[in-house]
Amino acid sequence: MIKCGIIGCGVIAPTHVEGYRALPDVEIVHISDLIPERMEKLGEKYGIARRSVDYHDLLADPEVELVSVCTDHASHAQIVIDALEAGKHVVCEKSPGRVPEDLKRMTDAAKRHPELVVSGIFQHRFQPANRTLRRLIEEGKFGRIVGVNLVFNCLRTNEYYQKDAWRGTIAGEGGGVLINQAIHHLDQLRFLFGGIRRVSALTANLTHQGVIEVEDSAAFVVEFRNGVFGTVNATNSAAEEWRSMLSVTGTELCLEYANEKPVHVEGLDAARAREVEEALSLEIKEQVVGKQYYGVGHTAQLADVVDAIREHRAPEVTIADACGSAVLVMAVYESARTGNWAEVPEY
Ligand SMILES: NC(=O)c1ccc[n+]([C@@H]2O[C@H](COP(=O)([O-])OP(=O)(O)OC[C@H]3O[C@@H](n4cnc5c(N)ncnc54)[C@H](O)[C@@H]3O)[C@@H](O)[C@H]2O)c1
Repeated sequence: MIKCGIIGCGVIAPTHVEGYRALPDVEIVHISDLIPERMEKLGEKYGIARRSVDYHDLLADPEVELVSVCTDHASHAQIVIDALEAGKHVVCEKSPGRVPEDLKRMTDAAKRHPELVVSGIFQHRFQPANRTLRRLIEEGKFGRIVGVNLVFNCLRTNEYYQKDAWRGTIAGEGGGVLINQAIHHLDQLRFLFGGIRRVSALTANLTHQGVIEVEDSAAFVVEFRNGVFGTVNATNSAAEEWRSMLSVTGTELCLEYANEKPVHVEGLDAARAREVEEALSLEIKEQVVGKQYYGVGHTAQLADVVDAIREHRAPEVTIADACGSAVLVMAVYESARTGNWAEVPEY
């Protein structure tokens, strides 16, 4: 039996609870939140008896072997480090940190504890269609990929930002649409097409003036390490809740892929285009826990973390790999601030 603790009992916590509960021989034994009412509500709903306002008490619980960190961005690095020092395996929600120093501290701590499994949540990597798309790319179905364009639209209202003190602040969230929402799809770019070498970016606060300190919109050019160019346009001021639209241009096949479904596939070989479209048109039977756009990946990612503990291996998304997506966001901020290209450090 692997016994878990969850730190942070807000919006995303039930997705972790349900994810763990779906796994055999995994039990949640301890939860923590600074706001007692949130912790009591989650504990009562799922029958989790041990509850601590101070997360250090959860980390001192000898039964807890694995900890999910589900708090705001600014607190992630210290909680992950404290969990590792307490001898716990850890899975940390995105973004793994708020500033580059956070990422360095977390990855250094993970290196000091090679005996522990440390993962960062990017659940869209476990969404079946994304895994299929990655396989199709690796199999060469697109020929050579010569262009990638991502448009990410979502809606975050002023009320959303006013709900919790950390949201929309530099000190708490570290950024806006890019570090919180679009980061999933920037991670998807790295997952599908490989690392990014440098970025040239613009950011703005177009519709949340006076409410947030961070960007609600961004546009940037990326150069992948393999020389391919891409563009990204992201906003959380759109008239739709969540839509990621990825266009992949290959020398043999082109794909328009929206919210992880193919909307247009065309290529030199019509039979191959049909085959790719069918392979990506997957029916998902699992129930999503939380917002529909979270997808079904949390449970699969938590299963990978638990298996990694049992099999004494690294998880599929190591904390360093997760930090690779966070540092991409931070490079975009640096470029927007300086007006110059920003190099993306390798993680
Ligand atoms: N993967 C996804 O699809 C997804 C979706 C939503 C949120 N998230 C991420 O999950 C994290 C939490 O987001 P949320 O929307 O649940 O936020 P939230 O504000 O609803 O919940 C965070 C909770 O953490 C608690 N907390 C903060 N510091 C703490 C501490 N030191 N000890 C104990 N509790 C503490 C807060 O009191 C709060 O209840 C963020 O990193 C966010 O980006 C991920």
